[in-house]
Amino acid sequence: MARETWATRLGFILAAVGSAVGLGNIWRFPWQTAENGGSAFLVVYLGIVLLVGVPGLLGEFVIGRRANKSPVGALRELSGQRSWGFIGMFSVITGISLLSFYSVVGGWIIRYLLESGVSLVGSDPAYFTNPGQYFGGVSAGADAALYHLLFLGLTALIVFAGIRKGIELGTKIMMPAVLVLLGGLAAWAATQPNAAAGYAFFLRFDPSVISENFFAILGPAAGQALFTLSLGAGTMITYASYLGEDRSLPFDGSAIAVLNTSVGVITGLVVFPLLFSQGINPTETGTGPGALFVGLAGAFSQLPAGTLIATAFFAVVTLAALSSSISMLEIPVAFLVDEYDVSRKRAVTGMAGLVAVTGTVCAFEPSIFGFVAGTLVNILLTAGLAAFLLFVGWVMGRDAIEELASGAGSLGRSLSTPWLFAVGIVLPLFLVFTLLTHFGVDGSIGFWRTVGIAVVASAVAFFGLRRPESVV
Ligand code: TRP
Repeated sequence: MARETWATRLGFILAAVGSAVGLGNIWRFPWQTAENGGSAFLVVYLGIVLLVGVPGLLGEFVIGRRANKSPVGALRELSGQRSWGFIGMFSVITGISLLSFYSVVGGWIIRYLLESGVSLVGSDPAYFTNPGQYFGGVSAGADAALYHLLFLGLTALIVFAGIRKGIELGTKIMMPAVLVLLGGLAAWAATQPNAAAGYAFFLRFDPSVISENFFAILGPAAGQALFTLSLGAGTMITYASYLGEDRSLPFDGSAIAVLNTSVGVITGLVVFPLLFSQGINPTETGTGPGALFVGLAGAFSQLPAGTLIATAFFAVVTLAALSSSISMLEIPVAFLVDEYDVSRKRAVTGMAGLVAVTGTVCAFEPSIFGFVAGTLVNILLTAGLAAFLLFVGWVMGRDAIEELASGAGSLGRSLSTPWLFAVGIVLPLFLVFTLLTHFGVDGSIGFWRTVGIAVVASAVAFFGLRRPESVV
């Protein structure tokens, strides 16, 4: 059977934006921002999205569109080496790991959405009375497992229907709904008393916070940038593998990054004014995965029409989460379909069945959940993206430039050589550096010394290694 392609250009962009916009923007971003000093984190994060995220996204796109295969087949075919196919296998493991914890959080959201929706007629949602206790009760154990299965089932249904009728159609409906609802919520949040304190926390830029904590912020900001752009797992390779040659990758990649970042920032403009308007300071109430649920549920409970606002909010989050989880499931599904000729329906059933189990483990065991959602995913994504980019720079080389330029305007074409230098050398070095921070190596050696080491290492890599003709 011929491999499917996206029906329209907008369809591809929306699917990729749908993948990018998700719990990472709405649940993880405010919590990471609060934990890492507010606006300072925002600035470092924005810098990384621009300098690492966009070129990295283009790297994954180039691999996928060139090979028209899932990451495993793409790396093997483009390199002609089985060992690269083995590295591609990591994307399958990453996809399954991601979905295992993501689906549990998706389950919490559905739980909150149903609880809010049902309470629109009748009494207040149960989480109004004691948000902390409610969250504790539903976030782990049998309840969490049950709702995880529900969320996973919805995800599987969409992927089951295929690229055009499932993922493309689904995201074409979900993404506009997310944008409209979120915009409405942000406008409404602006009218809340003391909203200004929330904006100040989020947006008032204080350079001294950055200069003092640069390295402490760097690791989390990089992790957040990769996570939110769905980088390092092969999601974007897979989505680009369903593309024709006629699109401008630089344009599409920039559009996706801009839309995704806007949603992150708009979410901040909803969440922080809401919290501050109710006298909740996110740096004081403690943070962590439950912060958003506990803090926001508390804020909702004090608002007039709080149940309605809560319903709208959790509806946004559910749609955003689903449009991302389908992109995680699509990684192992595309792998089975491309490499083993399994039918899509069987592949979805098999992989969803597997995640039903791994996710249930995460639902019952918070320590495993925490490890997968934090450390494991951070390491897999960072190492994964570094491997993909090294592949683009050193194995694909000129082919990558050609692929990037195909369908691109003249600006995109003229940037392709510096882009290849960045993805082949500078970005992998940066990624390896942030990877080290996960293993306890931090910036204690100081900023300029670190920059010095990075520059020397780049120079050695560039001039010392026999220069492949590919890197110009
Ligand atoms: N980007 C999504 C979010 O922000 C999550 C996601 C989907 C993802 N696919 C991914 C993260 C692949 C990393 C890799 O919620």
